[in-house]
Amino acid sequence: MQKNIAVIRGDGIGPEIVGEALKVLDKIFDLYGHNFTYTDVDMGGCAIDKWGDPLPAEMLDKCVNSDSVLLGAVGGPKWNDVAGNMRPEKGLLRLRAGMGVYSNNRPAKIWKQLASASPLKESIVDKGIDFIIVRELIGGIYFGEHMTETVDGEKVAFDGLKYSEKEIERIGRIGFETAMKRNKKLCSVEKSNVLDSSRLWKSVMHSLSSEYPEVKLTDMLVDNCAMQIVKDPSQFDVIVTENMFGDILSDEASMITGSIGMIPSSSLGATKCGLYEPIHGSAPDIAGKDMANPIGTILSAAMMLRFSFDMADEADAIENAVSAVLDAGYRTGDILSAEDKEHCTLVGCREMGRLITENIKKG
Ligand code: IPM
Ligand code: MG
Repeated sequence: MQKNIAVIRGDGIGPEIVGEALKVLDKIFDLYGHNFTYTDVDMGGCAIDKWGDPLPAEMLDKCVNSDSVLLGAVGGPKWNDVAGNMRPEKGLLRLRAGMGVYSNNRPAKIWKQLASASPLKESIVDKGIDFIIVRELIGGIYFGEHMTETVDGEKVAFDGLKYSEKEIERIGRIGFETAMKRNKKLCSVEKSNVLDSSRLWKSVMHSLSSEYPEVKLTDMLVDNCAMQIVKDPSQFDVIVTENMFGDILSDEASMITGSIGMIPSSSLGATKCGLYEPIHGSAPDIAGKDMANPIGTILSAAMMLRFSFDMADEADAIENAVSAVLDAGYRTGDILSAEDKEHCTLVGCREMGRLITENIKKG
């Protein structure tokens, strides 16, 4: 199959982790006889430096016209002082909105090999951690009105959080449909004891529920959810929530699985052209040191094959290779727990990518 992938290396560790994911895709290309072409796209801090804009229009066009986009990470201290609407992260938000990818799927699944890397007690981990956060990605406070003004001699800042019924309904459906493919449990997370947008969220979820009678819908306040994720993560199957709550809860959920470096994500909208990115940031402190964990990005590439290209066997081959390398005891620093130090081998980003590539076998 011929596919054109837009590749955004971005900033910090972005170029390193994307480089390893491309080696993996090249191996899939060789083994399964596909033809992947890569189109480089500048976004984030590097695009500000080169073009004076975190996502120039022609870069967005390249993404929209591709079969899917693979992204590393953007941002870093170098661009901390640029104006809010020109920050590297703004490029990412414009990309998500420009591609119309409203549904962000973030799995929180513990790899059995990494159980000791979880900060949770063994008794909690043993009950199992395997859920998905479906995060609304192009609405809410991220895309509301933002303003800083001076009132009576002091600065006042404002960020608006707005959701329409249609926006809630389309992400709600993804939540229900994701649950239908799993254990049919959907937890809708909001703050309906305080926010109007959350009360609307809750009522739309309940209206939708009649169309999915097999799915057991529950409601949970976001502060309680943050607590329940560490207390008993085994209770969750699918969580559906708004943009900012999803951002926060998905970092928490990733940590209990061992490391944020392991977690991929897919973002989809009305078409098959998706955006695939690890959920971690650009980690400027370790950039260029060959220390980053490329697995989140490699698993994001696997998700791209599965969800956008209908290549389930190829995606399985990548996930099996990751599992084999973890079985063999190779760990990047972020997933090397104190208990595992004696019998595991610490490797860098490049070596981890090489090992995974080498372990890809056609099933
Ligand atoms: C994420 C990130 C982004 C977000 C940042 C970089 C804008 O934290 O993908 O979770 O908040 O969505
Ligand atoms: Mg985040």
